[in-house]
Amino acid sequence: MAHKYGGPWSEVKLDAVEYYLQCYSNALTPRRMDIWYIDAYAGSGDREAEREIGGLLEGAPLETVIETLDGSARRALKIDPPFKHFVFIEKDPIRAKQLAEVKNDFPSVEIEVLQGDANSELLKLISKEPWTRKAKSFSRGVVFLDPFSMQVDWSTLRALAATECLDVWYFFNVQAVTRQLAHDFGGVGNKATTLDRVLSPRWRELYAITPEEPSKQSDMFADTIPLEKKEPSAKRTISKAQIDQWFKGLMTEEFAFVSDPLPIITPHSGHTFSLFLAVANRRRKATELAEKFVSYVNKNFGPKSASRRKSGR
Ligand SMILES: C[S@@+](CC[C@H](N)C(=O)[O-])C[C@H]1O[C@@H](n2cnc3c(N)ncnc32)[C@H](O)[C@@H]1O
Repeated sequence: MAHKYGGPWSEVKLDAVEYYLQCYSNALTPRRMDIWYIDAYAGSGDREAEREIGGLLEGAPLETVIETLDGSARRALKIDPPFKHFVFIEKDPIRAKQLAEVKNDFPSVEIEVLQGDANSELLKLISKEPWTRKAKSFSRGVVFLDPFSMQVDWSTLRALAATECLDVWYFFNVQAVTRQLAHDFGGVGNKATTLDRVLSPRWRELYAITPEEPSKQSDMFADTIPLEKKEPSAKRTISKAQIDQWFKGLMTEEFAFVSDPLPIITPHSGHTFSLFLAVANRRRKATELAEKFVSYVNKNFGPKSASRRKSGR
């Protein structure tokens, strides 16, 4: 059975990443680079989606059909010229088994399926060659982090940045993060553990010093009060877009380049996810190329363009 998740916005996310993978392969294959695609929350390889067909314009009764679409793993496998190596990580044993079956459709391709937690599997993977050689080897790769919610650890992002040769696409669930961040600092309670794991202890910067000092609230990024001394009544006054910018700043301290996020809009919650590209490679040529590709991605797959594009495939 295919994996049912997401909605039309999932296709926008997958179209954007697929476009980047195609540009990446076009650019690096002629340079004889050894290119990897690492999908850390890979799903089953397929995605089931509902679509309405018929209606007045089509002259047929309206009905909902279930379609099986390619998930991120299959889309990456179809990039031409192809990537040389594929690593698919998936925690769920049934989906991991389905991923292993995807190999049958691509018999000549090197595909490794790892069943387990993405954070620990990624750390194991990048602690070995070729990744320990950083940009001194010919190996380069794209990592796709596509969790349902807050499953990516900040320590994993830092470790990926330290490879200096991986590009990371991160489907950041800004809605889930916003829900964990209570309005008052004191209301965060035991959610602090998850926030520490996902955003590092620096998330405390998102709270103003005191609600009575609005002038200081606008200057929250320059906040010099030690994090552990925040007043319980300190308020979080910033929007999802500002949380994104703060998170981009945090990632920029680790990565050579971090894109502006592509906001992904869902019908029930509006701005729900933010798709970031973070480039670990410090060479100027690499960051310039990534910047060029991602600016096209953000221009063509952003909310305004998405409404003009056909949903589904
Ligand atoms: C949004 S889906 C990924 C969809 C996939 N990228 C695609 O396009 O078909 C998230 C996947 O992450 C898996 N997952 C959840 N927590 C995980 C973890 N800690 N490590 C690895 N996989 C995990 C889920 O089982 C699910 O299949």
